[in-house]
Amino acid sequence: MPKATAIAHPNIAFIKYWGDADPELRIPVNGSISMNLGSLHSRTTVEFDPGLALDELTINGRPPGDIALQRVARFMDHVRNLADCKTFAHITSENNFPMGSGIASSASGFAALSLAASTAAGLELDRVELSALARRGSGSACRSVPTGFVEWYSGQDDATSYAESIAGADYWNLRDCIAIVNRAHKETGSLAGHSLAGSSLLQEARVRDAPRRLSLCRQAILERDFQSFAEIVELDSNLMHAVMMTSQPQLVYWQPATLAVMQSVVEMRSGGMQVCFTIDAGPNVHVITIDEYSTSVAKKLEHIPGVNEVLASSPGEGTRLIEN
Ligand code: PMV
Repeated sequence: MPKATAIAHPNIAFIKYWGDADPELRIPVNGSISMNLGSLHSRTTVEFDPGLALDELTINGRPPGDIALQRVARFMDHVRNLADCKTFAHITSENNFPMGSGIASSASGFAALSLAASTAAGLELDRVELSALARRGSGSACRSVPTGFVEWYSGQDDATSYAESIAGADYWNLRDCIAIVNRAHKETGSLAGHSLAGSSLLQEARVRDAPRRLSLCRQAILERDFQSFAEIVELDSNLMHAVMMTSQPQLVYWQPATLAVMQSVVEMRSGGMQVCFTIDAGPNVHVITIDEYSTSVAKKLEHIPGVNEVLASSPGEGTRLIEN
């Protein structure tokens, strides 16, 4: 029976995606830039089986809840449509990071699923088509398809909204030290959050200025200019959280320890270290630094009250097939 296995890394956004122009197709209101996280991955196998009456899914060895299953089944329907096939599949996905670590597995999960499912279904997608397919599962998943440092062009439709690599994983020795302050699942996930973005008065200003921030961030990466990078990355994260906090209803993801980490990072930078923060739709803080500072940054973070653990990662490759 046709079978394929793929591996993909999650990514951390430096310029954030928040809000959809088309929620069905997950066309974002603004472009975004990210880095794949090489130490973390999802590994997904898809095997079509004419004997099945429905798709079967296990994540880390267990069947997931109904919502996750429906989301994956819908995605698989789209793949079946593209491949003109009616067969259901066994899907197994394993993450090397705990589901309850507060790190979202949707980006790496849907990127790996896109490649495994499209390959097993006999589709020969190029990298652009594969990125656009992953976007259907979870917007940010399209950024886990290309390698290293990646930009997602917002585009206007299914074919023009995809991500491409700006620079390879070896281009810049950045490290992400993720300060885990809460392992619990978020009450309002990004899916619901995107639909609230437009209810904030600040969203329009955030989106209008996005091309400028994208250009500064892209240039800072290409020039390996940490100071400029730090300024634009922190500004972009704060802008997104300002939108979240002023949405109706308000979304406040920060916890006291989140702020303690942010303050400590700003102090470290004033003391001459190359370090900055960025925060997704949760309380954990991604502390971005360069190789030579990463051990001392991680040590400092571990001592902040409320920080449970620190996971470190270097830039990662794109989504790829592996032998079964
Ligand atoms: O791909 P989603 O729907 O999980 O949205 C991701 C949203 C943020 O993580 C907050 C920002 C981003 O660009 O990754």
